Amino acid sequence: MCGIVAYVGDKQAYPILIKGLQRLEYRGYDSAGVALINNGTHTYKCMGKVKDLEAHAKEQSIEGHIGIGHTRWATHGEPNNINAHPHTSMKGKFTLVHNGIIENYAHLKKELTSRGFTFQSDTDTEVLVNLIENIYLEQNVSAEIAVRVALSKVIGAYGLVISCEDEKDKLIAARKGSPLVIGVGESEYFLASDASPIIEYTDQVIYMNDEDVAILSKDDLVLKNIQNDAQKPKIQKIDLSIDEIDKGDYEHYMLKEIYEQPHSIGDTFRGRISIDKTKIFLGGIIDVMPKLNQAKRIIIVACGTSWHAGMVGEYLFEEYARVPVEVEYASEFRYRNPVINPDDVLIAISQSGETADTLAAIKMAKEKGATIIGICNVVGSSIPRETHAGVYTHAGPEIGVASTKAFSSQVTVLTMMAFMIGRKRGSLYDELYKQLIHELTLIPEKIEIILKSDSYIKGIAELYKNASNALYLGRGYLFPVALEGALKLKEISYIHAEGYPAAEMKHGPIALIDENMPVFVLATKDKSYEKIVSNIQEVKARNGKVIAIVTEGDETIKKLADHVIEVPDCHEAIAPLLTVVPLQIISYHIAVMRGCDVDQPRNLAKSVTVE
Ligand code: AGP
Ligand code: GLU
Repeated sequence: MCGIVAYVGDKQAYPILIKGLQRLEYRGYDSAGVALINNGTHTYKCMGKVKDLEAHAKEQSIEGHIGIGHTRWATHGEPNNINAHPHTSMKGKFTLVHNGIIENYAHLKKELTSRGFTFQSDTDTEVLVNLIENIYLEQNVSAEIAVRVALSKVIGAYGLVISCEDEKDKLIAARKGSPLVIGVGESEYFLASDASPIIEYTDQVIYMNDEDVAILSKDDLVLKNIQNDAQKPKIQKIDLSIDEIDKGDYEHYMLKEIYEQPHSIGDTFRGRISIDKTKIFLGGIIDVMPKLNQAKRIIIVACGTSWHAGMVGEYLFEEYARVPVEVEYASEFRYRNPVINPDDVLIAISQSGETADTLAAIKMAKEKGATIIGICNVVGSSIPRETHAGVYTHAGPEIGVASTKAFSSQVTVLTMMAFMIGRKRGSLYDELYKQLIHELTLIPEKIEIILKSDSYIKGIAELYKNASNALYLGRGYLFPVALEGALKLKEISYIHAEGYPAAEMKHGPIALIDENMPVFVLATKDKSYEKIVSNIQEVKARNGKVIAIVTEGDETIKKLADHVIEVPDCHEAIAPLLTVVPLQIISYHIAVMRGCDVDQPRNLAKSVTVE
C-alpha cells in the first residue's frame, strides 16, 4: 500500500503535501514524489524517504495551490527514481499518483504500445495514466470522462488522484479497493489515504466508496460513480486529535503504542462492560447474535499479527462459548475453495481494515452465505464496509508497522465476544462470567506495572541483541503469544525467530538448542504450568538460554531460567494480554540496539493492500 496526499485551495500546496506524506510514510516508503500545478506541472520524485524528496526538491520551483503527493510501496517495478510516483502521461496531459494494482496492466500496455505509446517506467501506474491520455485525446472528451472510461477498462485496485494540463484548476480522485478520504475545508479540499494528514486542517471528511469519482476545485466538489451516477457526499466529523498521531516524547511510534496499551485497552472495553462489571455489551454484533447463538462453526480469517489474535480467539471461543473454531490465513483461505455453509459465522480481524487477502476472503465467504463480522481499528476502512456487523477496537491510530496496541485491543474484543457469546449460549455460568469480566477490567493497571520493568527488560535485550536465531515457546492461550513474540522480533530486528507450542520442541526444534539460542518461554501459572517447567528444564539441559515470562513471585522458574520477567497474576484466559507486553518491549529494544528502522522496517508496509 502507499500514501497519497493532495490539495486544492488557496494555501501553498507543497508544505501540506510534504507534511501529509510524512504522516503517511508508515504506509509505504521506498520512494516518494510530488507534483505542483501552477502555470505548468512541476514534478519532483526520488527513491528513498520523504526527507530525501525534500532534499531533492530544494531550490526548485515549489509554488502552486494545487498539488498531489505519493509515498510508494512497490508492486510493479523496483523502487527507483523512475518508478516513483507521480507518473506523467507520454504527451504530458495527465499526472497521476496511484495506490493499488492494475491487474490487467500488461494487456493494456500492449494495446497502448501498438498505438504508439512509450513508457519510461516499469510500473502498472504509468500504463493507467497513458490509458487515460489515450482516451482523452482519441475521444476528445473531458478529463473526468476520460478517467471514468479508462477506469471502466481497469481490473484491479486503485486509489488515485490525477491532474490535467488543460483543466489546471481541478483534481480528479477515484477509488476502488484502496482507501481515499476527502477533507472538506473553507474554499479548499484535501485528499489522503487516511485522515491523519487532514485532521490538522479540518475535521469534516468524506470517506470515498468503491467506484466513487470526485472532481474537486477549490470551491466545488462533484461526487459521482464510474457509471456517471451522482453520489451524495456524506460529510462526517472525525474525532482524531493531532497528539494521537504524533510521537510526543517517544523515540518511536512503536514504543509510544506499547505504552498506550493501558489506555487503548481501556478504550476498547469502555462502554462495553456494565458499570457493575456484570455484563458485556457489544452493540456492533447485536443484530447477528441469533447467528452467533446457533452457529455450528466460527471461521476466523486474518493475516500476520491479526492472525495471532485470532488464534487466541480460537482458544477463548472453544473454552467459553463451546463453539468449534478454525483460524485461517486469509491468503490461503481465499484460494483453497473452502467449504462454507450459510450458518457459518466468519470473523475477519484487521487493524488497517485494508488488507487485500482478508478483504478478498470476506467477499468470498459473503457470496457463500456466511455471516461476516469484522474486528477492525480504522473506522470507514474497506473491511468494515463489507461486513454484516462488527466491533471497532478503538485502539487509536497505530502508526508503527509492528502491531502492538492493535493486537492487544483485538484480543480484548475477542475475549469480550467469547465471554458474551458463552453467556448467551449458556456455556459460561454467571459466577465465572462476572469473575472474568472483573479480571479483564484489571488489565490496564497490570500492564502499567509491567511497563515499569522496561529498563530491566532493556538490560536483557542487551545480552541477546546479537543473536542470529531465537525460539519462542508457549502452551494453550500462550502458544499464539509465542507466535506473536517471534513475529515482533523478526519483523523489526531482522533476527530469525520462530514460535512453537512448547510440547512441540521434542519433535524437532530441540535439535536447534545450544548456548547461542535464546529461548523465550511464556510460563505464567496455568493448567499446564508443570509441563512448561519441564520444557524449560529440557532447554537448560542442552545449554539453551531461557528468558521466562512468569507470574510475579514465581520462585521455581527463577532457579531454572537465565532471566525471568514477572507479570502480575491473572486468570489464564486473560494472560495473553499481559504476557505479550514484555515480548513487545524486548523486541523493540533489540531492534533499536541493532540500529534497525523500528517504525518502518525494511521491505514491510503497515497494511498490505495488494496480494
Ligand atoms: C504485524 O506486526 C505486521 N504489521 C503484519 O503482520 C500485520 O499484522 C498484517 O499485515 C495484518 O495487517 P492488518 O491487521 O491491518 O490486516
Ligand atoms: N502498483 C503501483 C506501483 O507499484 C502502486 C504501488 C503502491 O500502492 O504504492 O507503483
